[in-house]
Amino acid sequence: ITVKKAQLYKTVFKPEDLPDTPYNEVAFVGRSNVGKSSLLNTVVKNYRLAKVSSLPGKTRSVNFYFINDKFFVVDLPGYGFAKLSKAEQQRWKKLIESYLIDRDKLKGVFLLIDAKVGPTEKDIIMREWLDYYGIPYCVVATKVDKLRKQSEKATLKKMIRRKLGIDEDIQIIPFSAKTREGRIEILKQIEQFLEQ
Ligand code: GTP
Ligand code: MG
Repeated sequence: ITVKKAQLYKTVFKPEDLPDTPYNEVAFVGRSNVGKSSLLNTVVKNYRLAKVSSLPGKTRSVNFYFINDKFFVVDLPGYGFAKLSKAEQQRWKKLIESYLIDRDKLKGVFLLIDAKVGPTEKDIIMREWLDYYGIPYCVVATKVDKLRKQSEKATLKKMIRRKLGIDEDIQIIPFSAKTREGRIEILKQIEQFLEQ
């Protein structure tokens, strides 16, 4: 895929506002601050498209981006953001789950894991969830520019595989929004998801 056009199509705050569209889509999920919006911007090479912040909890809605007038990439709010009130956390959880549960146009999910933090309890729950609902997914290890040595990548992949409990058939893509490492692999994976 070559990204020729990327535009914000819809911003959704409530499950009942999720749009019905005739196009297929892929989505980015993960903890608050893991780098979902940065990944989106890197993939489409538009660094002002999705808002990014060093403070967790930046993305507060489900954002649909229309790519090449052909498919959607969906940027979700992050989970596990402790500073929110219980009610607000519950509302977000509901929004993310409503989106993921019966979305027949959703062809694949990128589950983002921070390379420095590794899989958390909530990431494991998300992985189990994706398996349970039969949603195709792959894993992205984000912010790999922070690793001291490139050789740490093999160890990182093994650690993620073990902690998250995934087999060899699930791909793990090392990615950095800073160096753009992994961008092509992500684009290829998007293509594969959309072909299914
Ligand atoms: P929420 O919207 O709050 O769920 O966060 P998010 O997952 O969308 O993360 P976002 O893209 O806003 O990035 C969070 C912070 O991590 C920002 O300060 C980014 O600049 C930083 N960041 C994202 N990707 C990378 C990366 O590849 N390398 C480094 N070093 N920093 C990154
Ligand atoms: Mg975000």
